[in-house]
Amino acid sequence: MAGTDIGIDLGTTSVLVYVRGRGVVLKEPSVAALDRSDDRIRAIGEDARMLLSRSPGTLKEIHPLENGIIADYMVTEQMLRYFIQKAVGRLSFRKPKICICIPADLTEVERHAVEDAGYQAGARDVAMVEEPIAAAIGAGIDFSKPSGNMVVDIGGGTTNAAILSVNGIVVSMGLKVGGNDFDAALMRYIRSQFGVTVGQQAAEEIKMQVGTVYERPEERLMEFIGRDIETGLPKTVRISSQDCRMAFRELTGRIVEVVHSVLEKTPPELAEDVAQRGIVLTGGGSLIDGLEDLLEARTGVNVVTCDDPLCAVAIGTGRAGELLDL
Ligand SMILES: Nc1ncnc2c1ncn2[C@@H]1O[C@H](COP(=O)(O)OP(=O)(O)OP(=O)(O)O)[C@@H](O)[C@H]1O
Ligand SMILES: [Mg+2]
Repeated sequence: MAGTDIGIDLGTTSVLVYVRGRGVVLKEPSVAALDRSDDRIRAIGEDARMLLSRSPGTLKEIHPLENGIIADYMVTEQMLRYFIQKAVGRLSFRKPKICICIPADLTEVERHAVEDAGYQAGARDVAMVEEPIAAAIGAGIDFSKPSGNMVVDIGGGTTNAAILSVNGIVVSMGLKVGGNDFDAALMRYIRSQFGVTVGQQAAEEIKMQVGTVYERPEERLMEFIGRDIETGLPKTVRISSQDCRMAFRELTGRIVEVVHSVLEKTPPELAEDVAQRGIVLTGGGSLIDGLEDLLEARTGVNVVTCDDPLCAVAIGTGRAGELLDL
C-alpha cells in the first residue's frame, strides 16, 4: 500500500484517526494524565480520563491542545505517538504516512511544530491540510469548480468560517470560541443565578439535554444537583432552555458575527453561490440545538449540518491525504 495511510484530526476536545480503507477507527479525548510527583505521563486519551476521574489528587490533567493549537509540545507528541500506534497496531512494521489537519490561520512556527510532532511521533511522511478544506471534503462538498461554498466548523475550542472555491480557501476567519466555552458560560450562569456550582461534565450534559441558542415556543426543563456556594451542601436546581439561551447569548452573538464578517468579505459572485447552496456546518459544537435556525434567521441563508459533524474533519483529513497522493 503506497501513499497516505492515516488522517488525524488533532482537536481541542478530541483526537480522531482515520485509516485508509477503514474509516475513523479511533476517537478519544485529547487529554493526558501526568503524575504530580515526577511529571511523567501516566495515561493518554480515554484511559487518562478514566484515571483522572478516579484518582484526581495525585494526577495533573493536561490538555495539550488549546483552541486548536499546540500548547504543550511534549505531551502532544506523546499523544500522537500513542494514538498512531493504537490505530495502526503494533503489527505494522512500516512507519505510516500521515496527514494532519491544522487551523487555517497557523503561523509558520506553529506549522513546523505540528509537522515535527508528527515525525517525532514516528511518521514516515507528514502532510498537512487546512481545517476548512478537511471539513468541506468530510462534509462531501465538491468545491473543485469556480463557485462559492461556505463551511463553518464549530469545535470544542474554535470556530472557523470559510469560503471555498476551485480547491482552495478564498476567505477564512477563525474565532477562539467553541462548544467548551458554552459549558463554561453555563457554569458561570448557574453560579450567579442559582448560587450553586457544577462541574464541566455536568454543564456539558445540561447543554446537550436542554441547551438551545434559539427561541422556541416550547420550553424544556431539566433538574440537576449542584453544590450550594453558601452551605457547601448538594442542592437540586431546575434549569430551562430559556436559561441556557441567556447564558449562551454572548457566545452565539460572536459566532454569528464571524459568519457575517466572512460573508461581507466574500466577492459578490461567490456570495451569490452561497446564498443559493446554503451554509454547511461541521464540528461537534454545531450540534447545539437551534444553531441552524439562528444562523438562518440572522443571515437569510439556508443552513444545514453535515451528516457526521464530529467525524467530518477526520474523514476529510484522511481523504485529503489520499487526494494529495494522486
Ligand atoms: N449533541 C451535542 N450537543 C451539543 N454539543 C455537542 C454535542 N456533541 C458534542 N458537542 C460538543 O462538541 C464539542 C467538541 O466538538 P469537536 O469534537 O468537533 O471538537 P474538536 O475538534 O476537538 O475541537 P477544535 O476543532 O475546536 O479543536 C464539545 O464542546 C462538545 O460538548
Ligand atoms: Mg475540530
